[in-house]
Amino acid sequence: MKKDILILGIETSCDDTAISVVQNGELVLSNIISSQAKFHEKYGGFVPEVAARKHIETITFVLDEALSEAKVNLEEIDTIAVTKLPGLQPSLVVGIGFAKGLALGLGIPLLEINHLEAHIYANHLYRKIEDKPDLKYPYVGLLVSGGHSELWLANSPTSHKLIGSTRDDSSGEAFDKVARMLGLGFPGGPIIDKMSQDGDEMAINFPRPMIDSPDFDFSFSGLKTAVRNEIIKYNEGKSETHPNARSDQKLSDLKDSEIHKEIDNNWKLDIVASFQEAVIDVLVSKTIRATQDLGLSTIVLGGGVSANSRLREMMGRKAHENGFELYYPNIEFCFDNGAMIAGLGYWYL
Ligand code: KG4
Ligand code: ZN
Repeated sequence: MKKDILILGIETSCDDTAISVVQNGELVLSNIISSQAKFHEKYGGFVPEVAARKHIETITFVLDEALSEAKVNLEEIDTIAVTKLPGLQPSLVVGIGFAKGLALGLGIPLLEINHLEAHIYANHLYRKIEDKPDLKYPYVGLLVSGGHSELWLANSPTSHKLIGSTRDDSSGEAFDKVARMLGLGFPGGPIIDKMSQDGDEMAINFPRPMIDSPDFDFSFSGLKTAVRNEIIKYNEGKSETHPNARSDQKLSDLKDSEIHKEIDNNWKLDIVASFQEAVIDVLVSKTIRATQDLGLSTIVLGGGVSANSRLREMMGRKAHENGFELYYPNIEFCFDNGAMIAGLGYWYL
């Protein structure tokens, strides 16, 4: 009988310290994630050096938990997989150094994995055999994370062709920046997703950047500016002097984080719902068109924004109308995690 392969996956590319044990590239035995989000919120944004230090403090505890949840000993691990790129250098270095030390100490191979490829691969992961997805290649992959918005033609877990990407901000970044302008907290995506359910997505007709361009590229920075302008217009209409502005300061000179004071809550719900609708419209429309143009019939989502409920709903609706199949990762595998790194590592092994 073929021996089961156990891979330990380590992910520290941003602000989550994450370690998992995955069997044969798919069955997740443990998935431990220690988030620093609350900590960085205190600083009003992400501080890379602080993140690296937090990874160092936490990583051995996360390893212990990951082994204990999986009920395996370190000596039973066959291979270590770690995120190599992309990510924040100070954070990545902690995970890579730790992984190298472990692999060397145990005398087992070390695999360095691409974080973006792993986000799309997350669609293969499951906790129970009855949840095993029947995912077939080739497919169109939409990778939407905090730093990237890309469309792929994927031929296997380890081979894909980039067919489109963002020319400026990613969709996740747009969610985070709009949340910041409205003083909603970090990360903005999940907060805006939840608030939008109570807002009117038709209230403000925001631009849908590049929706009709013949390529498969994206651009979200203009949309973010359109939201900013709308907030400024709202404030100007409400009061002559903005509560955060000095008497000699124009509203338009204020920083993103300063423009949100005294906004009516219902209007906040409407503006976030309208903004989200514009982002989702562009993502869905381009993904469907790419699938049609390439003559494919499967769409696969990955990355933090693939947790978005409106994206899942609208992509599902359009995929169904076109007779396409749609896959997205289980929520626990959408965000940064070690399971996607370990899982993909199996294919490189
Ligand atoms: O993939 P990820 O966890 O980390 C990176 O590799 O960047 O993605 C994080 C991004 C953040 O921008 C966050 O705001 C966004 O994913 N995000 C969401 C949702 N949940 C997380 N965006 C929209 N709707 C969500 N429900
Ligand atoms: Zn990520």
